[in-house]
Amino acid sequence: MANRIVISGAGGQVGRALAADAGRRGLDVLALTSAQWDITDPDAAADIVARGDVVVNCAAFTSVDAAESEPERAHAVNAVAPGIVARACASAGARMIHISTDYVFSGVVDGPSRPYDVDDPTGPQSIYSKTKLAGEQAVHAALPEAHVVRTAWVYTGVGSDFVGVMRRLAAGEDPVPVVVDQIGSPTYSVDLASALLEIADRPAAPPLLHVANAGAASRFELARLVFELVGADPSRVVPASSEDMPRPAPRPPYSALSGRAAAAAGLTPLRPWPDALAAALAR
Ligand SMILES: NC(=O)c1ccc[n+]([C@@H]2O[C@H](COP(=O)([O-])OP(=O)(O)OC[C@H]3O[C@@H](n4cnc5c(N)ncnc54)[C@H](OP(=O)(O)O)[C@@H]3O)[C@@H](O)[C@H]2O)c1
Repeated sequence: MANRIVISGAGGQVGRALAADAGRRGLDVLALTSAQWDITDPDAAADIVARGDVVVNCAAFTSVDAAESEPERAHAVNAVAPGIVARACASAGARMIHISTDYVFSGVVDGPSRPYDVDDPTGPQSIYSKTKLAGEQAVHAALPEAHVVRTAWVYTGVGSDFVGVMRRLAAGEDPVPVVVDQIGSPTYSVDLASALLEIADRPAAPPLLHVANAGAASRFELARLVFELVGADPSRVVPASSEDMPRPAPRPPYSALSGRAAAAAGLTPLRPWPDALAAALAR
């Protein structure tokens, strides 16, 4: 019998996509929202996790800007709680998949200027990214064989994610300024969910993986393709710089992820980002 998949943060973007995909495949799934499982609570983790489970931690404090003014909460959820979950997995005899971020890289101009590999040095620049990197380390300290999966720029195409917002703005008439100086790997939540389930089925998969749709794009290029695909005029998306649109937390100027290590381990590479975007917007 397949192992039970236990999902924390199941009300979030990735958690929902994962629970839906696992449900479609008829897997045994326990999908718990933040109200049902607070991952900062050690007793809850010990009660929930059972021998043989594959726990996928999709819970995080993901508001990159809010983390700058709420560092204690970001630290508790992103840095400490993943270790609590990993310890519960270690004592129960469960496996764990933990989700992390491309923002652990600095993306500075003298960086690799090629998609980041798993063994490239990290250099987190914001509270969010520092706490996420600490969370990766806490997971591996408690459960070295846990799979830490870094992903990037995740969207569903509906709602408040970047692609969902661009899709909504495309229906208007105003010019839409979008930054040209942030380059990353746009990743469709459906493709990420499928990759997570493949890893859930592969205990020998490596402990650190990058999982993102292939290729790299600036926010500007991504927005332009959204407009094009929904039949709006892409020239309404106008180039801006991060300096023109200041935010509380710095973003890496370049944080595209390479799927080389995952492919070398025999995992299915994710399709190129424009194909995934077209599929998302066609739904
Ligand atoms: N979205 C991206 O572009 C992106 C990029 C790279 C990596 N990631 C990573 O992907 C993972 C999933 O993110 P997402 O995009 O699905 O974000 P999301 O939509 O914000 O979902 C995160 C979920 O975590 C829950 N949560 C927060 N604190 C919790 C706690 N103490 N206990 C249990 N649940 C808690 C939230 O519930 P409430 O809403 O009730 O607080 C929310 O449902 C995160 O690890 C994130 O760092 C995301």
